[in-house]
Order: sequence, then C-alpha cells, then structure tokens
Amino acid sequence: TGNSGMEHLIFVINQLQDACASSGTSIRIDLPQIAVVGSQSAGKSSVLENFVGRDFLPRGSGIVTRRPLILQLMNYQTEYAEFGHIRGKKIVNFDEVRREIEVETDRLTGQNKGISNVPITLRVYSPQVLNLTLVDLPGMTKVAVGDQPPDIEQQVRAMIWEFISKDNCLILAADPSGSRTIGVLTKLDLMDAGTDARDVLENRFLPLRRGYVGVVNRSQKDIDGRKDISSAMAAERKFFLGHPAYRHMAERMGTAHLQRCLNQQLVGHIRDTLPTLRAALQSRLTELEAEHRAFGGLDPDDPNAKAKIMATLINQFIENFTKAIEGFGEVSTKEL
Ligand code: GDP
Ligand code: NA
Ligand code: MG
Repeated sequence: TGNSGMEHLIFVINQLQDACASSGTSIRIDLPQIAVVGSQSAGKSSVLENFVGRDFLPRGSGIVTRRPLILQLMNYQTEYAEFGHIRGKKIVNFDEVRREIEVETDRLTGQNKGISNVPITLRVYSPQVLNLTLVDLPGMTKVAVGDQPPDIEQQVRAMIWEFISKDNCLILAADPSGSRTIGVLTKLDLMDAGTDARDVLENRFLPLRRGYVGVVNRSQKDIDGRKDISSAMAAERKFFLGHPAYRHMAERMGTAHLQRCLNQQLVGHIRDTLPTLRAALQSRLTELEAEHRAFGGLDPDDPNAKAKIMATLINQFIENFTKAIEGFGEVSTKEL
C-alpha cells in the first residue's frame, strides 16, 4: 500500500528508540509516539491489552503502572514479546511478560510503590496488532498509599507532563484537551440507563480536532471470571450494534476501529514531524561523526563505537525517510 514506506518508518523509529535506550549515547531527539494518559482505573491498561489480545499488564488497585512502558506493537506472522533490557529473549508466555514488568518496575522503584521516569521497553510481535508505539503512563491519582511518597500526585503529574508536553507526542486520553489529543471513552456499558455519550462521541460536546472513539473493555467481573479478550471484543461489537444511541456509528466505535485509527494517526503524525526530525538527526549525525573521528581504534564496548552504531542507524533512517517521501502522494490519513 501507499503507506508501507511510512509504516516502515515506525520500525526505524523503534530501532532508534532502542538504540537510545541501550547505548547511553543520547540522541537528544524526541521520537513521535502516542502517550496514554487518564485517571487511575479509567481503563488504559485494558485498552492496551485488547490491542494485543493478551493479558500481559500488571493488575491491581493503586498505581500499578509505576514506570513508563514503551509498548512497540509490530505486525508479524508469529507471536512473541521481547524486552529492551533482555534483548534476544523471545517470550511466548504472556504471564511471564507480566511478571517481568513487575520485577523490572520494582528493580528501580523499590518495594515502596514509588515511581520512576525510566521507561521499560516492550516489543510485541503478533499477527493481531497494527504497527503502533504507545507509552503507558501512571494514572493520575490523588491518594498516596502505604509508604508511598506523600507528593506522589505531583510526581505522577510531572512524569505525564514530561511526555505529553512534547510537540511530537499524540495523546490518547479520556480527559479531553488540545489538538494532539485523541479522545477515548471507556466504560460506556456502565452508563446509567437512559443516558448515553452520543454528544461527546459525535464531537459536539467537547470537540477535539482528532475526535473520539468509544470502547467497552472487560469489567472486573469479566476478568475475575477469566473472560478471554476475543469474547470481550465480540461482546463489544454486539454492544455498539445493539445500542440505540450508537448503532448508527457502530463502524466508528470499538477497539478494532481505535487501533486502526491510531495506526493511521501515528503514520500521519510521523509524516508531519519528519522534516524537523530529519534536520535534528542530520545535525546529531554530524556531531557523532566528529566524535568518532576524534578517537581511533575502538573496542565494541567503547561509547565511541556506540556513537558509530548510532550514526549508522541515523543514516539508515534518513535513507528510509527519503524512500518514504517518494510515496508521499499516496499516503492517506483519514480523519477520525
Ligand atoms: P487503568 O488504571 O486506567 O489502567 O485501568 P484498568 O484497565 O486497569 O481498568 C480498571 C478497572 O476498570 C478494571 O477492573 C477493569 O475491568 C475496569 N474496566 C476498564 N474498562 C472498562 C469498561 O469499558 N467497562 C467496564 N464495565 N469495566 C471496565
Ligand atoms: Na489500574
Ligand atoms: Mg494501568
């Protein structure tokens, strides 16, 4: 399709993201991404699990997500997960993915349920997903629990701000604001009888440039009863088709539609931010090459060898950028 060049850029950006995380050679460049923000228990983790079709995120009360999780979804024939901090280990059991997120979270935050802004990178390869990079962030909270620092609310807010204040960050949020926000309404199944969210979903009540998508995730009872995600997705579809206020827009509602929208919006967003990104990378490339020349004969663990690897990646990125630009006329990014 006309999008394939641009789709490929999501892969290259993922590579850059990994290289930044593991090399210690910062490229000091913000990569396009979608941050997931909202109140605690709004349904953020549920939405991400539904995209993947697997239960793999830690659950519980209080702030469960205590480090940013950079979730790179990669469309692929076989299904497995790989962590940035355990490169090369293909994990096929998603319970193991959950345990590793818990262990790796505690490794930096300790046992007192504090938070850390150092991200965990998780890549999920699956035939079920569309190429998409999302950042799961702690939910906004008001109460510290146990021996959590008393300023936990401010800490969470500061971390969320660190991600969403960047111009090239799209925001997936239940709390609408601004032009980079894609509104998601969860829990539509829990609205009181006789009330509905049609005015919001049709973008009349609190209009957002990128509009809204409504979803229905599994309830706590569903999860306790081990309802699987594919039955939940079928139930979601039935909900929208059967609801008098949503029936007419059922094709634009639900998790599958949201995933398609986000993929299109991220691709479009990358396209829009490419010129700036390219210029920033080009100048960083020049710096890296100079650093590399300044030191000779390097062993592979030398930071300057890492600089060289980064430079190669950036070069590759610029090459792919050029290819993607050639397909520009065909790239379509449908509005929501
Ligand atoms: P997070 O804190 O934003 O990540 O929220 P979670 O995804 O962990 O969900 C919090 C709770 O709300 C869980 O018990 C979910 O089962 C429940 N929940 C999430 N979305 C929905 C929904 O659309 N409908 C219903 N009935 N429950 C939901
Ligand atoms: Na939660
Ligand atoms: Mg969560």
